[in-house]
Amino acid sequence: KKIHYYEEVTSTNSTAKDIAASEEEGTLVIAEVQKGGRGRLGREWVSPHGGIWMSVILKPGIPLRHASRLTLVAGLAVANVIRNMGLDARIKWPNDVRINGKKVCGILTEAKAEVDRVDYVVLGIGINVNMDLKDIPESFRAGSTTLKAELGSHIKRVSFLQDFLFELEQQYILFKTQPFSHILNDWLALSDTIGREVKVTTPSRIIEGKAVGITPDGALVIRKADDTKEEIIAGRCIYAR
Ligand code: BTN
Repeated sequence: KKIHYYEEVTSTNSTAKDIAASEEEGTLVIAEVQKGGRGRLGREWVSPHGGIWMSVILKPGIPLRHASRLTLVAGLAVANVIRNMGLDARIKWPNDVRINGKKVCGILTEAKAEVDRVDYVVLGIGINVNMDLKDIPESFRAGSTTLKAELGSHIKRVSFLQDFLFELEQQYILFKTQPFSHILNDWLALSDTIGREVKVTTPSRIIEGKAVGITPDGALVIRKADDTKEEIIAGRCIYAR
């Protein structure tokens, strides 16, 4: 598989989208530094030296409504690799991988579809590996951590990347060959969101209640105070207590 390596890009997701139509599935775009790294919900993603900023091009040929499943697949793969290092990685819906309640990884999935079939999916994965937290502006630093800070030692990024790509491929094969409920069960076992009181903000409103489950498309199911349930496919999630 091809790897496009850059010292610096605006955003590996943007580069990956530019080349996705003509590249094979599995192509990787990776950079040391991103100058315009993008997070979910229009946020900025600070991407200094020492992290892993990458995008994987996939061509799963699935309906567009299933594209968000790949976010769960990627989050599970990242969490598994970090857990294999002996750290207690957990997943906060929809896509944050956290250690001791602090974020080490974010995932931004972008898809292009023709009618309802996905042409390609770009899985953008940012992992805070060896950088100093002081390289992150203070307004972004709260609630973040790095693998190095949690492990107490420097991480070999190349071997971490090899382990991750291997694990992602395993999960992707399962995604394509098994009922999605298998991946969902593994994801649920690592989720620290289900069972919590949450407050989810979407562009149009705020929903509060208890996170009680996840739908096969990755939507969070919230049971509200009036006992009705609501499914939310995208939003910002805060743990209320
Ligand atoms: C989030 O938690 O808001 C998602 C963050 C995603 C960051 C990664 S870094 C590689 C790829 N390129 C980007 O511009 N963003 C993603």
